[in-house]
This record gives sequence, structure tokens and C-alpha cells, in this order.
Amino acid sequence: MSDGVSAAIELSDPSDPRVAAYSTLSDAALRRTTDAEHGIFLAESSVVVRRALAAGMRPASFFLAHRYLDSMADVFAAHPDVPVYTGTDETMQSITGFHLHRGALAAMYRPQARSVASVLDGARRVALLDDVADHTNVGAIFRSATGMGVDGILLSPRSADPLYRRAIRVSMGTVFSLPWARVEHWEDTLAGMSDTGWTVAALELTEQSVDLDDPTLAARDRLGLVLGAEGTGVRPETLDACDVHVKIPMYRDVDSLNVSVAAAVAFWQLRPV
Ligand SMILES: C[S@@+](CC[C@H](N)C(=O)[O-])C[C@H]1O[C@@H](n2cnc3c(N)ncnc32)[C@H](O)[C@@H]1O
Repeated sequence: MSDGVSAAIELSDPSDPRVAAYSTLSDAALRRTTDAEHGIFLAESSVVVRRALAAGMRPASFFLAHRYLDSMADVFAAHPDVPVYTGTDETMQSITGFHLHRGALAAMYRPQARSVASVLDGARRVALLDDVADHTNVGAIFRSATGMGVDGILLSPRSADPLYRRAIRVSMGTVFSLPWARVEHWEDTLAGMSDTGWTVAALELTEQSVDLDDPTLAARDRLGLVLGAEGTGVRPETLDACDVHVKIPMYRDVDSLNVSVAAAVAFWQLRPV
């Protein structure tokens, strides 16, 4: 049995079809690829690759700069049927089309999508992302949610994909472990949560907003925290579907916080008591 490192396949041709998954295809195009049942996503950095594997993600191939090969030998040994490709930093960059912060990549099969019901089952705190389209913000929200006891995340149809390369990296791989689901019928889902014992709270500065440290909020048994996009905030139709609006009081003429910062403050303040 090969140790993976010595069997690594050296690449130099940017158009090599064996690494098409890593080439300048957009991640959106990757999702539509037909070579895998549920499409492919890219995990970047050895830490993120290891976290993805630990969370049960299945690798299609590995692609690492020479200097990373030895440190990942145990990973290759655990997946003897998965091809390992390698090359210089320059080759990797010309194939991937993006600057690599870490020279370790894996192409992985997208996991089966979860249902909304499975995310809510047994949860006490969930975050709901209302068209948060920025991948960095989505990744940062996943990281804070995981670290502060939020049980899951629901995403509106136009929120960014948590399995986009940048979202994965910023989340430090928490997108693999924290349950999440894409919601098809957004306002209906919020209404359904309200009808089944959830308090759905919009984090937004509106005329009706109560302060974040209102003690009745953290005392709620099941709380959904809705977060909005940078430019638009929580959309009016979403605000209408929420049970309560909540604000983090602002000082010194600063209008609002970045959504991932507001999320972290709220997750901590409203953790279940
Ligand atoms: C940058 S803010 C959007 C501000 C938007 N331009 C507006 O004026 O409504 C992005 C999101 O972060 C959250 N957020 C930011 N600051 C907040 C605050 N002080 N209180 C409550 N939520 C806040 C909200 O969910 C908001 O939709």
C-alpha cells in the first residue's frame, strides 16, 4: 500500500482534467457539476481539510503544494483510494486561479442537504440569515454561533452558500459541524416557528426595538435570531414576520455594527439561561 506522499501525482499543466474541480471554475459552477451526486466544494488549508474529514465529509481528491505533503500523510493513509495531486505554489495558483493562503486543498462531495425541521429539532437558539449574501459574514457568523452555543442556522434563499471556499475558511470549518439548512419558504417558516413555541426576534434598529439586555429575551426557551444584510438590513417583509425587534444600543453616531459583530454580541447576551 502506498503512503500517499510517494504516490502523489505531480502536476504542471493548468488544463489537466484530473484537477478540473480546482481550476478557475466558479464555485457556483462547481455546485452544478454532474460528476458527483451533490456537487463538489473546496476545502482550503490543512486545518479546514482535517475538520471537514472529522465531520464526515467525503474527499474526491487532495491537491497540496510539495511542502504540505508530509504533514498530511496520515490523512492520505486513511483515504487510500483518494488521489493526491501536488505541484509548486506557482502551478497550484495557475490551476486554481486564486491566491492560496495555504497550499493545501481538498475537493469534497457536498453533504446531503438537511431539512429545516432537523435543524430546529431539540434546538433552543438558532440564527436566521435574511439574505446575508456576503461569504465572509456568513463564515464569521457560523464561527461565532458554534462557539457561543447557537444550535443551528437557517438561511434565506438568497443568503450566501456556507460551502463556498471563503465562507468555509472564515468559519474555520464550523460549517461542517453546525447543523444548517436552506429555507425555501422564508416568511412561512418564520410564521411556523412562532406557531410552535419559538420567539422569532429580528436584530434590527426599528422604532419598536427593545434593548438586547431586556431580561425577558434571554429567558425565552426557544429563540430565533434574524440577521440582515449589510446594505439593506432585515427586509420589511421579514420584519413583519418576526415576533419582536431587538436592538443593540449604539453610541457616538455609529449607525450600526457589521452583521457578524452584531450576531456575536447577540449570541452571547441571549444564550439560554
Ligand atoms: C450593517 S447592519 C444593516 C444596517 C442597515 N443599513 C440599516 O440601516 O438597517 C446589518 C445587520 O446587522 C445587524 N445589526 C447591526 N447593528 C445592529 C444593532 N445595533 N442592533 C441590532 N442589530 C444590528 C442587523 O441584523 C442588521 O440587519
